[in-house]
Amino acid sequence: GDEDDLEFRPPVVTVMGHVDHGKTRLLDTIRKTNVQEGEAGGITQHIGAYQVVTEVGEQERLITFIDTPGHEAFTAMRARGANSTDIAVIVVAADDGVMPQTVEAINHAQAASVPVVVAVNKIDKQGANPQRIRQQLTDYGLIAEEYGGDTMFVDISARQGTNIDALLEAIVLTADATLDLRANPKMEAQGVAIEAHLDRGRGPVATVLVQRGTLRVGDSIVAGDAYGRVRRMVDEFNEDIIEATPSRPVQVIGFTSVPGAGDTFLVVDEDRVARQIADRRQARMRNAQFASRRKRVSLEDLD
Ligand code: GTP
Ligand code: NA
Ligand code: MG
Repeated sequence: GDEDDLEFRPPVVTVMGHVDHGKTRLLDTIRKTNVQEGEAGGITQHIGAYQVVTEVGEQERLITFIDTPGHEAFTAMRARGANSTDIAVIVVAADDGVMPQTVEAINHAQAASVPVVVAVNKIDKQGANPQRIRQQLTDYGLIAEEYGGDTMFVDISARQGTNIDALLEAIVLTADATLDLRANPKMEAQGVAIEAHLDRGRGPVATVLVQRGTLRVGDSIVAGDAYGRVRRMVDEFNEDIIEATPSRPVQVIGFTSVPGAGDTFLVVDEDRVARQIADRRQARMRNAQFASRRKRVSLEDLD
């Protein structure tokens, strides 16, 4: 943990906003793939996480994106997204305007002191009124640069691919202007589980975001009260990767149980240590539940 060991890492950007305002479509357009068509009912069920390369000016820059659901039932996921992020992109549909989950997303970003970029989406639609969005958002402390504020607004159409480059540039400019994006890649990995589920064929699968250090196949890992050995890591295209550096999201296969979304993870020297930490957390969880049945206790500390 020496200052010299710090290296530049890509910004982590969480895409938030009201249901159906176009978050997943925007990420699809950025990745030129089509996840949104395949989702159940077109509603994002899990937080997806992807890394993309973009060209800004002459430079190639990596950006990590985390997708979140807009549905009102998913408040906790948006809060977790905001807490593991460097920048929030708030997507607002220009025909629909500011809606309850727009406001909630802004509140999460502001509570986490995360800079906001506003993507005013669906400008291709009839009735789209991007200036009205700027006016509405002044009530929430987001003042557009053209009105003397310091929030970047970019009018886009995720469907038609309009102004996507300008949005990526706004993200990179915001990152460069406001953030110190450095982490030590040389230590054992730490980070956060963004989402996790039990896969029929592969067992527990956790999407984790590496925040410090480098995560490698073979590492002993503990996340919340789950532990295991990283047997395989795959990216969003299901391609195997053998190591993941800071800001990299990866799917980890090898946990013996499913970690909780939002659990922090760390790599330890031996499987035995990982199991001990997990066991101790499970025991503490049981004791806490016994002592107080009123509320679930989250155990973040590691001793
Ligand atoms: P949740 O994850 O359910 O909160 O929704 P979302 O914000 O991810 O929205 P999604 O990307 O699923 O898009 C919702 C609908 O809006 C889909 O039918 C998209 O095709 C459509 N849509 C998204 N962006 C645009 C756009 O720029 N223009 C138009 N006309 N339609 C769009
Ligand atoms: Na949707
Ligand atoms: Mg979505």
